[in-house]
Amino acid sequence: MISDVAGSVRVRATGSVLGIGIAVLDLVNEVEVYPAEDDEVRALAMRRVRGGNVTNSLAVLSQLGHPCRWVGTLGDDPAADLILADLAGHGIEAKDAVRVPGGTTPISSILLSRAGGSRTIVHFRDLPELSADDFGRVSLDGLAWVHFEGRNPPETARMIRRVREEAPDVPISVELEKHRPGIEALLNGPQLLLASRVFARGGGFEDPGDFLEDLLVRSDARLCVVAWGARGAASLVRGGHVQRVPAYVPTRIVDTLGAGDVFNAGVIHGLVQGLPSGEAVVQAVKLAGLKCGHSGVVMGRESSPTP
Ligand code: FRU
Repeated sequence: MISDVAGSVRVRATGSVLGIGIAVLDLVNEVEVYPAEDDEVRALAMRRVRGGNVTNSLAVLSQLGHPCRWVGTLGDDPAADLILADLAGHGIEAKDAVRVPGGTTPISSILLSRAGGSRTIVHFRDLPELSADDFGRVSLDGLAWVHFEGRNPPETARMIRRVREEAPDVPISVELEKHRPGIEALLNGPQLLLASRVFARGGGFEDPGDFLEDLLVRSDARLCVVAWGARGAASLVRGGHVQRVPAYVPTRIVDTLGAGDVFNAGVIHGLVQGLPSGEAVVQAVKLAGLKCGHSGVVMGRESSPTP
């Protein structure tokens, strides 16, 4: 149930959060400084962990007390077992995940620079995406929220339509992380659009406010939010004004990998809690900032590494 109160969006919801997107095996190498091309350097630490935007967000939401479910595709390999074990360890239900016979789970090779906490990701994938037919078999009972990664637009647009038709009271959010052909198909239907700075810049915007004004006009969302790294975040409610929130800077930036996923989880968490949208964004900025001061996505605990 979504309502607009005094220039703010408010949600009242109980039940679980369903996330639809990719799960990845992240091979994270921590290095002193980012190496030059053709260099050979030693890693200071290495971890093999479950990654992927939506599953990262769900791990945070689960830690914050929300019952969570994930749907996406997995390969037919040990990486998929690691991912399923990690999700189970976070209490995230994954019984509707589709294992592709003979498929390879996507892998990200990631360099984390200790000098500035920046992360550089090389992502390999050769796995079919979840189809709307797969999603058609997923129960929509007992949901408080549905969150989609903004990928595979034609199929994801069909999934969004299904939620709108069969569970009209359940709020939907879509993450707009990168420009993908046909992504405009995902702008109508969700009540919340969560964009990244990369997405905004890809559209030629250098100012978060200008970007949000444009996005709101092109969509039917009630609330548009953009995370802007060291410049914090901004949000815009339909009929309202752009609100900017400065970044929360931890004492030391240790690890920015997945900060955007934590931010998205923070916004959803705030709204499901019933906070006005402006407060939900402030809370999300703080959560993402705190995360940058820690290693791993989930506070006080890294995703479980392989033995
Ligand atoms: C971080 C992340 C990684 C994953 C990559 C996929 O936001 O989800 O865990 O490897 O992005 O694009």
